[in-house]
Amino acid sequence: MTGAPLGYLISAGTRAATIVPLTWFLTILSVVVCAVIGALLWFGVGRARGERAPVERRGDGLGWIRWGLALSALPMAVTLIWTMAALGRVVGPPRDARLTIDVTARQYWWEVRYADAAGSFVTANEIHIPTDTKVVVRLHGPDVIHSFWVPQLSGKTDVIPGQINVAWLEASRPGRYRGQCSEYCGLEHAQMAFEVVAERPDQFAAWRAGQQRPIPLPATPDAQRGLVVFKTQCAQCHALRGVGGGSGPDLTHLMSRAKIAAGTLDNTTGNLAGWILDPQSAKPGSKMPAQPLDGRQLNDLLALLKTLK
Ligand code: CUA
Repeated sequence: MTGAPLGYLISAGTRAATIVPLTWFLTILSVVVCAVIGALLWFGVGRARGERAPVERRGDGLGWIRWGLALSALPMAVTLIWTMAALGRVVGPPRDARLTIDVTARQYWWEVRYADAAGSFVTANEIHIPTDTKVVVRLHGPDVIHSFWVPQLSGKTDVIPGQINVAWLEASRPGRYRGQCSEYCGLEHAQMAFEVVAERPDQFAAWRAGQQRPIPLPATPDAQRGLVVFKTQCAQCHALRGVGGGSGPDLTHLMSRAKIAAGTLDNTTGNLAGWILDPQSAKPGSKMPAQPLDGRQLNDLLALLKTLK
């Protein structure tokens, strides 16, 4: 179960740690209730068929009704009180949050923006956070309704156009935690994933410094030609060093990311090449059009992308 990327019965953070025991309780309670009702039905049906001796009725039966009500009310009361207590603990945003990240959900990827006193930059589909730190995630929705969900860290928060909803995360141990859009938003809803990378605070600071470091201009001839290809084919949608972009992910530090296409493919040279030439095979309905490049243009573009560390 620990390997399940969306394993919502394993908690790795404060919010999930509050929700997971309640989920187990409700699951076990449901099984017990089903078993008890099933057993009663089985006995009742047996009697009606005359397979078992009928009960001799005494009194008006109100005693049974009282017992039934009490037995039903008890688990419901426990569920209600436990749920209210859990809600009180996961509601937010927490006042002692030390980091705020703006996440914009788009068909079908996630833009991630860090902007505070420590500097500002944009990345995509990979949200880095320091461990043991409460992090506020402000959710923006420019197109349709999506939902932000990182099961091992927190419950779902809808992303709704026209308003900013707020989620929060706190990871208690380092790790990569799969996130997933959990509101149907179009053809590629299922492939609208992301990762939350929880790191020790010093590692997070190093990652953050790396993302803010400017990328040098390409030094080799093939990467320089690749930059020309990028400007003609890619820059209308993808930003590089703060230039260009709009509807697609910022690619400035593309090579620092483990996945491409919003968690769909590992970030390898082969996957990048396949994605650029034919994104609709990997992700039908993706907003990225196929790029009609010849072999040399593709190699030059890949040479450029490999410099984006
Ligand atoms: Cu975005 Cu479903």
